[in-house]
Amino acid sequence: MNIIVINAAPRMEAGNTQAVLNPFLVGARQEGAKLDIVLLGKKKINQCLGCFTCYASTPGECVHDDDMPAIVAKISAADIMILATPVYLDGMTSLAKSFVDRLVIFLDPHFEQTENGLRHPLRMAFPKKLFLVSVCGYPGLSNFDPLVLHTQRIAKNLHSQFAGALLRPAVFSILLGKKYPDRVKNVMDAIRIAGAELVRNGGVSEQTLATVSGDICTVEELMKTANSYWDKELASQPRLW
Ligand SMILES: Cc1cc2nc3c(=O)[nH]c(=O)nc-3n(C[C@H](O)[C@H](O)[C@H](O)COP(=O)(O)O)c2cc1C
Repeated sequence: MNIIVINAAPRMEAGNTQAVLNPFLVGARQEGAKLDIVLLGKKKINQCLGCFTCYASTPGECVHDDDMPAIVAKISAADIMILATPVYLDGMTSLAKSFVDRLVIFLDPHFEQTENGLRHPLRMAFPKKLFLVSVCGYPGLSNFDPLVLHTQRIAKNLHSQFAGALLRPAVFSILLGKKYPDRVKNVMDAIRIAGAELVRNGGVSEQTLATVSGDICTVEELMKTANSYWDKELASQPRLW
């Protein structure tokens, strides 16, 4: 099974998105998946101009000369696409959105009727499944609601099945490994199991997802830890006045 992994976090390898992706991809690899990992932050991906040149003048070809065609070829050869993005202001990062807009290259301009309304036919193969991996700072799964809905619609637009979402709220609590080693290990183990389940079963069980998003500390402790971190950061800044 070929999986293309799109990490759309601007902090790339240094970020929590990658910290969550790592065990997930270990689990997927253990089940025999072949992974292609794309760090969008290292790629040149220009914004869609909305010119529709790729629809008619040069069908399937964009006016931009950037890294997207090579990524499109990899996507087309994949069985599953994993979109990994942190929550930024209740949605995906702008890196992710610029990338997603460019996926219009997969669509033929004509409309076709389906039982769910009109859509465009695919002009080339798009992965049969789309899976979301996301992290966010606030506690509570509801912080992912707009992103999950958006990703479900993107899957529908691209004739792909939304295969679920691995979501880790209060992501900074995974840094409390010294204080809560068993709880953090439990979460990280569940993330690895989720990667294995996705490859083995085509989706991740509710039980595994619940363990991944489970509380590591209380909201009060999260708030206290975060506030004291930022107080220290603020105090260590040089005063220019
Ligand atoms: C510009 C920006 C906006 C953010 N907006 C939200 C938000 O709306 N809700 C939330 O829970 N976390 C939010 N966060 C926290 C991020 O989801 C969190 O810092 C995450 O770890 C970032 O991913 P990374 O570590 O891979 O860079 C935001 C962070 C940034 C930098």
